[in-house]
Amino acid sequence: MSNSIKLAILGLGTVGTGVINLINDNLDELKRRSGRDIIITEVGTRRQRDDIDATIIQNSDLMATAASDNVDIVIEVIGGTTLAKDVIMHAIKHGKHVVTANKALLAEHGNEIFAFAEAHNVHVAYEAAVAGGIPIIKVMREALAANKIDWLAGIINGTGNFIMTEMRDKGRPFADVLSEAQELGYAEADPTFDVEGIDAAHKLALLASIAFGIPLQFDKVYCEGITGITLQDVDYAEELGYRIKHLGFAVRRDGQGNADAAGIELRVHPTLIPQEALLANVNGVKNAVLVNSHPLGQTLYCGDGAGAGATASAVMADVMDLVRVLGSKDRDDQHNTGHHVPHLAFIPEQLSDTPILRAEQMTTGYYLRVHAYDSPGVLADITRILSDAGINIDAILQKPAHKVGQVPVIILTLPVVESQMNLAIEKIEKLDTITDKVVRIRLDELA
Ligand code: HSE
Repeated sequence: MSNSIKLAILGLGTVGTGVINLINDNLDELKRRSGRDIIITEVGTRRQRDDIDATIIQNSDLMATAASDNVDIVIEVIGGTTLAKDVIMHAIKHGKHVVTANKALLAEHGNEIFAFAEAHNVHVAYEAAVAGGIPIIKVMREALAANKIDWLAGIINGTGNFIMTEMRDKGRPFADVLSEAQELGYAEADPTFDVEGIDAAHKLALLASIAFGIPLQFDKVYCEGITGITLQDVDYAEELGYRIKHLGFAVRRDGQGNADAAGIELRVHPTLIPQEALLANVNGVKNAVLVNSHPLGQTLYCGDGAGAGATASAVMADVMDLVRVLGSKDRDDQHNTGHHVPHLAFIPEQLSDTPILRAEQMTTGYYLRVHAYDSPGVLADITRILSDAGINIDAILQKPAHKVGQVPVIILTLPVVESQMNLAIEKIEKLDTITDKVVRIRLDELA
């Protein structure tokens, strides 16, 4: 086959090595699908490796590899937001198409990077940045292109899902499960990104921009981690027919006649969802994204969201798209980005300035765990405060006193604006009969 496509891989960690292995394993399939030879000409690595094919140049100068004449497509899998940004900008400046798995970089600097790429008529592809091997970027940018997306909800951090699953199924302690996720290569270099929801927030920012045609706004994502979730809450939720999952939500709100309440909710938090919901049954390191769009309705995309093979699969899917673009060389239009789906699915000039709602403007159901002295009228006091605030109670579970004279009361509510719930909780905590801070976890019926 002629006209080889020359790849550079910057970074030889789990993903970079996964890409090399995938190409070695599936080269025939790749060639048969693209009609081109696909070869790795260079790798950018600080440390020389003796397990790399001798025909591949190993270069410790990553900027040189990013600009090399010997390279058509630069695959950035270094991670981080400093060197990775420099090499990507350098590659773009030198007319290279880029494939990256770097969600943190795109969530924080994607507006600038995509604009720079458009100005240089190249494309930055990033399927691997969200939900690993699940082709959710392609689905949302292309397959759902005729739909109006109303909301999406996703399990978009495998490590967090693994921890929640093991806690529920085996009662394992948090730290123990996190160490296992690190050993398996799922966790971020800094695992607080996983357990505090930052990694999910990066991915959510990308999904929301594609869903609603808005600029990337990672700094406006409301983010709550899973470190405060106790086995006790996991059990109470199960008893009431719900399961706690760490989810990212992007929701379009029309404000129901109130212009101030119209906007987009971007939030990552532990959430009670019905046990029978498909998302509730996505376990281990699996990721899943549920998209509600019009007129299609709900569709669910599920698979491995982390790991070498899954991420390499997404990286190479992007490479295959770009191979076809580069294949149009003879038509002299290989660098015309008009032939690409726009980076954020919508034409850059058509991105909308719909506001992102603040946390206190967001609407969700709630699970409340209230600890009270076991005395007459306690429950009546709590429910009166909630009803005065216009909060509709959906279920109540009162357990027998577990400490001397104290009872945990579990309340599930219908959706309510957070500012209203804040006021009600403040009042409940001021009751003389309440012994601890109220524990609250959001709840969503996914309907
Ligand atoms: N740390 C991430 C996760 C890796 O656990 O999902 C994939 O982005």
